[in-house]
Amino acid sequence: MAFLDKHKAIETHATLLMVLSLLVVSIGGLVQIVPLFYLENTIEKVEGVRPYTPLELTGRDIYIREGCYGCHSQMIRPMRDEVERYGHYSLAAESMYDHPFQWGSKRTGPDLARVGGRYSDEWHQDHFTDAKSVVPESVMPPYGFLFNREIDGKYIESVVKTHAIVGVPYTEDMIANAQADFVAQADPNGDSSGLQSRYGAAAVPNGADVNVRNFDGQPQLTEADALIAYMQVLGTMVDFSTFTPDASR
Ligand code: HEC
Repeated sequence: MAFLDKHKAIETHATLLMVLSLLVVSIGGLVQIVPLFYLENTIEKVEGVRPYTPLELTGRDIYIREGCYGCHSQMIRPMRDEVERYGHYSLAAESMYDHPFQWGSKRTGPDLARVGGRYSDEWHQDHFTDAKSVVPESVMPPYGFLFNREIDGKYIESVVKTHAIVGVPYTEDMIANAQADFVAQADPNGDSSGLQSRYGAAAVPNGADVNVRNFDGQPQLTEADALIAYMQVLGTMVDFSTFTPDASR
């Protein structure tokens, strides 16, 4: 057939084949990628998502410092097995304030995108001290030293300010009160009204109040407080009982 003869010409010329393959792949790539730059809703706006509180942000920094992402991903893919195991698939909006994002690609341990509220603070305390005490077959390393490292949020104002520079909507008020909010979140006996007015239900449409607790179960404010505060907020900002994906997009 004449058509196949012409194709033979392509298949027998390595250079022509390469050039034409490149052309086809480029067109495919452009069709996929270019619209993303023009669609306003590449990141669908979702109610409830707020910037991390100063204490949660510190927990996130500890998560990165300790390389937790080396064993844990934070992205639930929209596949049935994942959704049944971990919960609603991750939305782009849920990591829009993550700099850098923690999606990850390695799962020695489970995905953590929705671990918030799944376990009690006490479970996390035991698990970080010695994972095998709660999950006997665990290979997760111990992180008990985090309970001995006191923190006071000395640099948190600068950290929050830096996140504001890269686009996280921290207000002047949030920046100015960063250290106070940092301390307030782990002190259930203190006054957390300022923290709630900045990050809680009153400030965030369809949002929830910030968890204010003694996360590590000790009188001191430690890195374990920050890390557990971060664990407990993961994946909890969006209320999926009211969320409906916008089918028109
Ligand atoms: C060497 C790999 C490894 C590293 C590093 C690691 N983990 Fe894990 N993690 C695991 C494994 C495996 C499990 C599953 C068994 C268990 O629950 O202990 C797990 C479980 C967990 C769970 C319970 C998740 C669930 O849904 O049951 C949490 C929370 C967690 N890890 C947090 C962390 C944090 C935070 C760090 C960093 C401070 C970290 N992990 C570092 C391997 C790791």
